[in-house]
Amino acid sequence: MDKDAKKRINELKKELIRHNELYYSRAKPEISDAKYDALMRELKVLEAEHPEYATSDSPTRTVGAPVQEKFSKVRHAAPMLSLESINDEAGAERFNRTCEKELDAECDYICEPKLDGISIELVYENGEFISGSTRGDGIVGEDVTRNLKTIHNVPKRLMGEKVPERIAVRGEVMMHIKDFNALNKRQVESGKDPFANPRNAAAGSMRQLDRRVTAERKLHVYCYRILFLSGETPPTQIEALNLLERLGLSVAPKVKHCRDIAEAIKYHHTFEDERDELDYEIDGIVIKANKTTDQKKLGMRTNNPRWAVAYKFEARKEVTRVEDIVVQVGRTGVITPLALLVPVEVGGVTVSRATLHNMDQIKKLGVKVGDYVKVQRAGDVIPYISEVLEHKRTGSEKTFHMPVKCPGCGTSLEKEDVFVRCPAGLSCPAQIKEAITHYASKGAVDIDGFSEKTVALLFDGGMIKSIADIYALEREDLLALPGWKEKKTDNLLAAIERSKDVTLERFLFGLAIKNVGKYIATLLAKKFKSLKNIISAEEEELLAIKEIGPEIADSIIDFFGVQQNIDQIERLKANGLNIQAKKTIVGGKLAAKKIVLTGSLRSLSRSQAKKIIESEGGEVASSVSAKTDLVVVGEKAGSKLEKAKKLGIEILTEEEFKNLVE
Ligand code: IVH
Repeated sequence: MDKDAKKRINELKKELIRHNELYYSRAKPEISDAKYDALMRELKVLEAEHPEYATSDSPTRTVGAPVQEKFSKVRHAAPMLSLESINDEAGAERFNRTCEKELDAECDYICEPKLDGISIELVYENGEFISGSTRGDGIVGEDVTRNLKTIHNVPKRLMGEKVPERIAVRGEVMMHIKDFNALNKRQVESGKDPFANPRNAAAGSMRQLDRRVTAERKLHVYCYRILFLSGETPPTQIEALNLLERLGLSVAPKVKHCRDIAEAIKYHHTFEDERDELDYEIDGIVIKANKTTDQKKLGMRTNNPRWAVAYKFEARKEVTRVEDIVVQVGRTGVITPLALLVPVEVGGVTVSRATLHNMDQIKKLGVKVGDYVKVQRAGDVIPYISEVLEHKRTGSEKTFHMPVKCPGCGTSLEKEDVFVRCPAGLSCPAQIKEAITHYASKGAVDIDGFSEKTVALLFDGGMIKSIADIYALEREDLLALPGWKEKKTDNLLAAIERSKDVTLERFLFGLAIKNVGKYIATLLAKKFKSLKNIISAEEEELLAIKEIGPEIADSIIDFFGVQQNIDQIERLKANGLNIQAKKTIVGGKLAAKKIVLTGSLRSLSRSQAKKIIESEGGEVASSVSAKTDLVVVGEKAGSKLEKAKKLGIEILTEEEFKNLVE
């Protein structure tokens, strides 16, 4: 019996060390958090029963994976511990009972979102950001200072007059869901493996030795704990978070002070329903004793604090069947397999398709047509298949084979590394349709109503063959389309007319140049000021932008080297397109004002509001700081509003904003 226990303990230790390495160092976990927790629990129980086999190197006593060699090492100000997890109300009640018993008093809590990203430590000396590190083995982490410096909401200098001599804080590196979806699209289009989820993408981005890659990934850091502070420690966690914000660090929204555990449980349930409202993934809430004195009294265990607990949300995974696997042709010709699923509700959203990215992914998953699979969804992350339930196979499942011809134009497909591409470019109708849809999309020239469906209708009806044709559409032709009444037609024509005044960065993004997303488009517009300058830019000039590497530079040069693309731009201009470098509109109602939008606006979309602000000479900023001039608040505004109030910044309701710009 004892021999069995020893054997199992050794097996579990080996397994867990391997999974730690996969999770923390390589950002490629092979098992779910729940499976990992179960293995860890089993080991803890066995070690408790057989303390003679509990060695100091056991994963129950160490956190994370060994430090990677390629970054230099940093000793953390305090061990970077992890949190104990609970899954239900009973767990929360138990946590409360232990706290109150230990304190011999009632305990108040602060509840925060549990950010599903990568834990880091930031150190500031005399206000200056001097060092940042990942968790590593919990004691010694990896020095990722250079990478953290590329993240826009990590201040290089702290704000305010009374900055502490030294402060070390802990936070989470997060990739927002929209940036994650865009990154995965780019990954697949450039033949690289997509990331399984935003957390893995954030981990992979932090581990880049070339910080230009990190910069392109658009990460955010949200801080939640002061690890060290010279001077007086704030008396509560709420005050600690307030101090972090005053210093200019970002803190996650929706933090709530709860008088007792019942309020904390209520917060958990409400938040679980509202988790999609955030731009990033959270996998639960963290309940923390609010008072610093309580935290001190409760103290630490070997691996985690006694004063805090992670109360997890239910994973949003459901089982369904793959009815078919089809392929889609992307705007750069990449062929993407897509699983068509028996519709299933995953966390309140009906899912009927899941991207399979490429042949490699299909092989890795081992998915066949007819398979039962687990479908996972995180926020607005495109749903994906996380597991194939092989034990449910009947033998009638069919292996998927990539087509040899493009389903859009019949051209023979070509294989490049892991992806398959249609080489026909703009003579492939499927690619043109995608390119036109992208050009008209919100982030690009933003033609309201020019959806994928409309593009297909106009393209298949022979009314548009390229993006330049959009500006030559005739009212009569549109009215002749089935179901197109005057109102719909005039709305579309008005939207097309409005889109003729476009900023350089939006236009560039709309051209769908390989490797040029919104961020790179903005940098290009800022540096080169006109399309003419970009078209004639030499490689060295492009590489002078620190975020642009040879791969992006080549894509830009290649794109403008194609005569067809230059002709298209000329036609667009001839059809009335007016591409403007972003400039401060002298005399605009919002001239040179930095404006932050927060909460959901009722009558305007974000991009409409942005356009109005820009057309009045203002600039939209994403976070509130002392430099912000105005904050426009919609419904359910959160921490940005709080911060604006604290900084005394002018706040306008949606109505007031509209009156101002009318
Ligand atoms: S406090 C002593 N607060 O979740 C540990 N952690 O396994 C103090 N996390 O490793 C952590 N959101 O990386 C804290 N609001 C939050 C958090 C948070 C996410 C992470 C942290 C930790 C992991 C728990």
